[in-house]
Amino acid sequence: MMRTAHLIYFSPTGTSKIISTGIARGLAAKNITHYDLTRPNPSFELVLTDGVAIIATPVYAGRVPELFLQRFQGITSKGMPAILVVLYGNREFEDALVELRDVSIVKGFNVIAAGAFIGEHSYSTRARPIAVGRPNAEDLKLAARFGKQGAAKIERNDFNLPGIDGNVPYKKRIQLGGVAPETDDSKCTLCGRCAAVCPAGIIAVSNSVKTYADSCIMCCACIKECDFEARTFNHPQIEEKRVMLQKNCSTPKAPAIYL
Ligand SMILES: Cc1cc2nc3c(=O)[nH]c(=O)nc-3n(C[C@H](O)[C@H](O)[C@H](O)COP(=O)(O)O)c2cc1C
Repeated sequence: MMRTAHLIYFSPTGTSKIISTGIARGLAAKNITHYDLTRPNPSFELVLTDGVAIIATPVYAGRVPELFLQRFQGITSKGMPAILVVLYGNREFEDALVELRDVSIVKGFNVIAAGAFIGEHSYSTRARPIAVGRPNAEDLKLAARFGKQGAAKIERNDFNLPGIDGNVPYKKRIQLGGVAPETDDSKCTLCGRCAAVCPAGIIAVSNSVKTYADSCIMCCACIKECDFEARTFNHPQIEEKRVMLQKNCSTPKAPAIYL
């Protein structure tokens, strides 16, 4: 039995966390330690030595989010086996998984397995649902099986790096921000939960809610957290993307597994 599973994730809307936890269940580790890189603090400075790592992040425009890369900097290993996961909103994962592979190797992890799973798209709304309900029960079953397969690979001392779909050089990074979700003052109770969950720390709540759009990563965590539906992101740029996603990416995709 695997002794410790180290779950390292950046997960603004929670799907990367759900799937990495599902994989850990399949690993049947005795202990599970969470390293949540989603919030601005705390940041981790540590060297992992014993067990297996599961490293998970969403796909942002075919790449790994910059905030994940920054916060992952403090975590290193000396050859710990690692299972990599990206979550994407049923469009494409493009070069995100090979980018995650490359950064994990630089950080000293021994990549033995990788998977791309589907999560409800960050931009999904009730009016324009995109990959709603993902990951679903079938995805979670696959995640547990994937974890079991990863554990079996480690147990037979097979530490081979699997082939992973994606290109190097990676596709050009798209600059995020400049526009951000907005608050409807008539619905807002100033509870501050939007600010508390913002991975970029760009929301300030006093007698109104101020959002500093320039550094917004457009993750929509603030929208999904708000029980009063006071936060919305209806900028034409985002609405256009929703229409495109609904038109072109409505057929549910299956997770891709690399072992
Ligand atoms: C800025 C941004 C860019 C995204 N780019 C992609 C993409 O290129 N392909 C895709 O299928 N989904 C994309 N998504 C959707 C997320 O990858 C997806 O919703 C994921 O499940 C979110 O993970 P989380 O719940 O752990 O935050 C994007 C989301 C955001 C906010």
